[in-house]
Amino acid sequence: MLKYFFLVWILVGLMIAGIYGIPGAKDSRPPLRLFPDMDDQDKVSAQTPGGSRLPVAGTVPNTGDDGVFSVEFGAGRTGYYYTGLTDGYFGTGMPEELELTEENVAQFLARGEERYGIYCAICHGESGDGQGTVAMLGVNGVRNLHETGEAGFDAENYPDGRLFEVITNGKGQMGAYGMNIPVNDRWAIVAYVRALQEAREISNNEEETN
Ligand code: HEC
Repeated sequence: MLKYFFLVWILVGLMIAGIYGIPGAKDSRPPLRLFPDMDDQDKVSAQTPGGSRLPVAGTVPNTGDDGVFSVEFGAGRTGYYYTGLTDGYFGTGMPEELELTEENVAQFLARGEERYGIYCAICHGESGDGQGTVAMLGVNGVRNLHETGEAGFDAENYPDGRLFEVITNGKGQMGAYGMNIPVNDRWAIVAYVRALQEAREISNNEEETN
């Protein structure tokens, strides 16, 4: 009985050596690969000619907290400028980080108008009345940014910081734009939406007095 046991062990050993070769022995033939694991493939390897190319012009680094990307877009930052919050409440007013002066405020608003046209008008409409292309195509519930009153959205009592936060993180059906619009531009949009609301109010008042 024991004799067969050893015989089987020797046979199994020979079989393994037969398939995989003797450990340490050199062989000029390519190894037998039962599972190739994508070892052989057509690709350009790093650090080989043609492998170390510079990024395409205009590439934005996404390199963690110290990279330009996260700072500019405010990821993981605190404070009013980055969150719209002061002491846990939505604040109102333009943050001082924007360094707004009488000279540059018109340019800032123009930037807001341009960015609003790119990112918001498609849904909320050029004038902010919620009648953009998307709404006209039949999507319900796009907010009229001039709406006031108890029910729903109240433009008059809506803090700037909350507007900033909605652009950053979205709300309900509206998606988040924090990863697409840098912090500075978000504030420019906030300022422009305020200008739109102001303009609407003035024209409403004129209608009433006429
Ligand atoms: C794809 C369409 C779409 C785009 C683009 C869009 N929004 Fe909205 N927005 C909506 C919809 C829909 C709602 C209503 C969300 C809800 O209450 O479900 C909304 C709601 C809002 C509200 C009200 C939030 C509240 O508290 O009720 C504000 C303010 C707002 N959007 C501002 C903006 C600004 C500023 C931009 C541009 C950066 C923008 N939106 C881009 C669709 C859009």
